[in-house]
Amino acid sequence: MCGIIGYAGSRNAAPLLLQGLRRLEYRGYDSAGVATLTCEGIAHRRAVGKLVNLEALLEKEPLLGTVGIGHNRWATHGKPTVENAHPHTSCNGRVAVVHNGTIENYIELRKELEAEGCTFSSETDTEVVAHLVERALRTGVPSLEDAVAASLTHLRGAYALAIISAEHPGEIVAARLSSALFIGFGAEGVMLSSDEVGFNGSASEVLALEDGEVATLCADGSRRLRGVSAEDMQARITPPSVSLDDIDKGGYPHLMLKEIDEQPDAIRNVLRGRLGTNSIKLGGVEAIKGRLADSRRIYMVACGTSYHAALFGKRLIEGLVRIPVEVALASEFFHEDVLVDKRDSVIGVSQSGSTFDTLRAIELAKKRKALTFGITNRVGSELAQLTGAGIYLHVGPECAVASTKAFTGQATAFALLALRLAYERGYMQDIQPLIRGLAMLPKWVEQALRTRAQIQSIVASISKAQRAIFIGRGYGVPLALEGALKLKEVAYIDAHGYAAGELKHGPLALVEEGTPVVAVALRSKVHTAMLANMEEAKARGAHVIALATQGDYEVPCVADECIELPDIPEELMAIVGAIPLQLLAYEWGVAKGLDVDQPRNLAKSVTVG
Ligand code: M6R
Repeated sequence: MCGIIGYAGSRNAAPLLLQGLRRLEYRGYDSAGVATLTCEGIAHRRAVGKLVNLEALLEKEPLLGTVGIGHNRWATHGKPTVENAHPHTSCNGRVAVVHNGTIENYIELRKELEAEGCTFSSETDTEVVAHLVERALRTGVPSLEDAVAASLTHLRGAYALAIISAEHPGEIVAARLSSALFIGFGAEGVMLSSDEVGFNGSASEVLALEDGEVATLCADGSRRLRGVSAEDMQARITPPSVSLDDIDKGGYPHLMLKEIDEQPDAIRNVLRGRLGTNSIKLGGVEAIKGRLADSRRIYMVACGTSYHAALFGKRLIEGLVRIPVEVALASEFFHEDVLVDKRDSVIGVSQSGSTFDTLRAIELAKKRKALTFGITNRVGSELAQLTGAGIYLHVGPECAVASTKAFTGQATAFALLALRLAYERGYMQDIQPLIRGLAMLPKWVEQALRTRAQIQSIVASISKAQRAIFIGRGYGVPLALEGALKLKEVAYIDAHGYAAGELKHGPLALVEEGTPVVAVALRSKVHTAMLANMEEAKARGAHVIALATQGDYEVPCVADECIELPDIPEELMAIVGAIPLQLLAYEWGVAKGLDVDQPRNLAKSVTVG
């Protein structure tokens, strides 16, 4: 979704802003723009579509200036047009603004400003901010920072903002509320980005803005945080958590493939320092483990792939810890009838930690006094700030839109959490085999990655199909759902995931001669039932592709093709079984010549509701 970038320093800003916007491309966008402070005031360039269009425009009409702001826009209020692209300027053109988030009361503010004579040139909610700042400056407020602070008092909603003014050359003012914003300090100036990735490896130190904060960044290197002493500000500065290696393709044709391949190491990172030979240590859980383990009920709230990881977490926690767990799509968890209260715990699961619906669901849980907990990959993200307790994945930045290593990272984090809570409740003896299994996970995932060549040939044989069905039972259900989601988003196949027992209650009508049915048939307590479901599909002409445990002699008797995986405890099935399903989606998307890293209509972080 939208991405913000800013630069104040000694170099020409426009090329640096463009580089930053390139790094933010993975989030998804449909128009882009930059504005710089020049000796004549503010100049801006905006273009619809991919960044090449903005780049071409900047080549034709270059921008000078060493201070500037830029933005990738993912349309919400108004179509993706040049007029609606950011930066937005005020009536006199002397204030420019870029914004992530949503200004909820923009209609009312727009009316008020129009009544005062303001002319609007876009349909966006953002433009009101430019006019409010211009109005504040006109009333004689001495600094841009004061003008921005005064304007913020009128806004309702969520925002990360970067603002420049021709009256105050040499500075950018930034503000955040419920939308991430980072300041990066580098040798050649100070930068601003809604995602650390935007610093493009050139920040040696980073500061994450907190909700309600206003920062001023100056081209001469000085910086201040409104209401925060220089010492307190210094104490919050950290080394960057993202390196260039993390975000480059590193020789791979696509980021998605790189991230799939990174999973053995990613899982090692999730386990590092947490998995002992006989114990689990989870720093973020220690202070609240008693309350979590004694919850009347645990709710999990998440979207998309994170929702599937939560479904896997539910099975683990119900199975090992014996606490009832409800998994809710975060977008369905905001209404008054949700039964959560202070006896419950609510776990928000989000790779980005900035998914709008997940954050709103956690806010509701907090209002109801439930214990809140976050499982996220992004250190300092909104989810981490909102929950205050949780588990970081540490799988490294995930830049391809399709989530892969975050899913297996989340599933691994759930396994750790379930084992830790099981220990808390005194069930430790039962879980020794799982602790040993977790230690083996990276090796098993390496083995699973070796199925790629086989998957390429499977794709070659089925790539004409328009539809695919994924089925699983027990721990295999979240996997079937996730396999279908991956194939939908990356290869645009009409893919459906079901609990296998449901097949004959409707979906079987979709099966015709040659329909690919992908069956999660790894060894488990529900193996026999799974074999029967595969037979049902086969009898209707399905081309059955099974994930099977090495050495299983029954599955090959039913399936047309078997993708063999190591013999793993069924509780860890989702982690190892995800790999061939991710590869299937990737290879199918590539075979169709699609942009697998940035599928159509999708964004990496969904920061609007
Ligand atoms: O950052 P989050 O985990 O909160 O994102 C949730 C979903 O938007 C995300 O998982 C989405 O479904 C992915 N594109 C799936 O690959």
